[in-house]
Amino acid sequence: MTPAHRLCSENLSAGYEDRRVLEDVDFRVAEGRLTVLLGPNGSGKSTLLKTLARTLTPQRGRVLLDGHDIHRHRTRDVAQQLGILPQSPTAPEGITVRELVGMGRFPHQRLWRQWSTEDEEAVMEAMTVARVAEFAERPVDALSGGQRQRCWIAMVLAQNTDLILLDEPTTFLDLKVQVDLLELLVQLAHERGRTLLVVLHDLNLAAAHADILVMMRNGRIEHSGPPKAVFTSANLKRVFDLDAEVINAPNTGRPVCIPALGNASALGRRKEESFV
Ligand SMILES: Nc1ncnc2c1ncn2[C@@H]1O[C@H](COP(=O)(O)OP(=O)(O)OP(=O)(O)O)[C@@H](O)[C@H]1O
Ligand SMILES: [Mg+2]
Repeated sequence: MTPAHRLCSENLSAGYEDRRVLEDVDFRVAEGRLTVLLGPNGSGKSTLLKTLARTLTPQRGRVLLDGHDIHRHRTRDVAQQLGILPQSPTAPEGITVRELVGMGRFPHQRLWRQWSTEDEEAVMEAMTVARVAEFAERPVDALSGGQRQRCWIAMVLAQNTDLILLDEPTTFLDLKVQVDLLELLVQLAHERGRTLLVVLHDLNLAAAHADILVMMRNGRIEHSGPPKAVFTSANLKRVFDLDAEVINAPNTGRPVCIPALGNASALGRRKEESFV
């Protein structure tokens, strides 16, 4: 095991009861990089994240954290190394933003050291970065969907782990906040050496920010590599059944997809033209 792959899976198969979702997934999460996981609804992205984070037990194969089966590690040790934001988290009723973000510090507390200035500072920094400090004393369930999503992101950041897994963290966020978040994730990887694995649905945002893109279909990893190599018309067709042209963005050189207009859109355009 090279130090470049702290988290990986070997022949991993996983699912729910007798239902198999992931099939023989060999996956290495690249150290200090932003990896974005893409795939159609139901392709197994959340199942893969949950299994990598030990929330779901494999049906076959293993997940290795620092070369050892993740199920052999103690829960607290895993939580000190790896933070996960699930797809649809639910907050305890009435909890304030500060309390929720503070939950990210639990793995760092000990019987003899309950709450420290270090915890306080980590919570403050995470709230500032995720731009929720102004809501600190408000109940989480009294916030908008996007504000609430940012509180969850702050909670994971407060955990201060080297490995961060985020399942659709941009849900509910307006475009500007999505871009800001992705830039923050790039910064965490490149400037602070964090290892990030993030599920996104916005193909162009993914291609614009990821160091590595991973495309899943039917519980298998179909393509993995730098956006320039992986984000192609042929792969988008194969994985998403999407007809799209891929061009290079003039400002970044990164690939951008332009979906082909189907019959419905052409019909809409004709109707619009008839109004002019
Ligand atoms: N708790 C569960 N019990 C049974 N089946 C499940 C459960 N969660 C997910 N599945 C099934 O497993 C398959 C993969 O689901 P998963 O949530 O991993 O997909 P996904 O790629 O994350 O999709 P989405 O983009 O919609 O979030 C789907 O067919 C889904 O119906
Ligand atoms: Mg999902």
